Amino acid sequence: MTNATVTKETLIKSDLKPTIVNGRSDAMAPGLSRRSLFMAAGAAGVGGAASLLAPDRAQAQSTDWTQPGNNNHVIDLQATSRFADGAVGIDFYGHCAFKIVSPGGATVLFDPWRDDPSGAWGLWFKQKFPETVVDITMSTHTHFDHDAIDRPVSTMVLDRMVGSFEFADLRITGFADKHACLAPGWYKWTDALAEFGVKACPPDNVGHMDMVTYLVETGGIRTLIWGDNRPDPGPGFWESIGRVDVLTLPVDGSQHILSYAQGNAIVERLQPKIVIPSHYLNEATTYTLSTLQPADEWVKAQKSYRFLDSATLSLTAAEVAGMDREFRYFGANVHSA
Ligand SMILES: [Fe+2]
Ligand SMILES: [Fe+2]
Repeated sequence: MTNATVTKETLIKSDLKPTIVNGRSDAMAPGLSRRSLFMAAGAAGVGGAASLLAPDRAQAQSTDWTQPGNNNHVIDLQATSRFADGAVGIDFYGHCAFKIVSPGGATVLFDPWRDDPSGAWGLWFKQKFPETVVDITMSTHTHFDHDAIDRPVSTMVLDRMVGSFEFADLRITGFADKHACLAPGWYKWTDALAEFGVKACPPDNVGHMDMVTYLVETGGIRTLIWGDNRPDPGPGFWESIGRVDVLTLPVDGSQHILSYAQGNAIVERLQPKIVIPSHYLNEATTYTLSTLQPADEWVKAQKSYRFLDSATLSLTAAEVAGMDREFRYFGANVHSA
């Protein structure tokens, strides 16, 4: 096989094996996320990742330029100087994908998902992520179940953004930290990284175990998108995050990312008004093959909870102010467009 005949399809079908690239452990592990495509090139002996990153290898590049739509909505928001008070919308798209809609109408989507393109981690999702229209798409880290940033029809893509960003009536702060690196449940998925010859835990973790957690401030409500962050973040995290009104946490019945106890400890530490589970099995989007389980058991163990009957939660700062660690569970209610 020559480089000229290599396509994304042939690489995806390649027989990926745990491998050492060029005789040494590489900083990018095969089998995970968009990076796995380039590692697949190395594993398949087709000239390594660099050949696919060359300018004449357009098939490996972003497809965003083919998307429909334009930036008219962002231009309108950009020209707006005063925004109405009102409700903040939180729309659930399954797994860890949430869209926040500001009172002024700005939209930001976090962590659109896809299946692992290498196939190494199997089938997780029943369909492709919907081509939903948003102003901003953000990703917390490069794992496949969080980084389908090409799927939303989005004017902006802020991938793994660290620091502060302000637009319209949104302020978003990204805090760089690390992925949970010790699987607390029965499925020791972190052991797979050792099989691929890389380390999961800091300080010399493989790059795809880096994380960004996002605090979103809009409409007087502060929402923390936890992503797959470790339960014990590094120095400065709690001080930088400050008050949290709405907290999303990756806790499911298999305790894949965080255990029940770890999730509960974070809730106790942050004392949010509302907790929204993420990263759990729901029959609308996710296959059992993911090894995830629903979050029902964890939710039902809480003092105050509600199983929502739609995929949208609408919150005002005034109503949130009177709440205390109330769980709101989307279950299998997800947006599909
Ligand atoms: Fe992850
Ligand atoms: Fe994940």
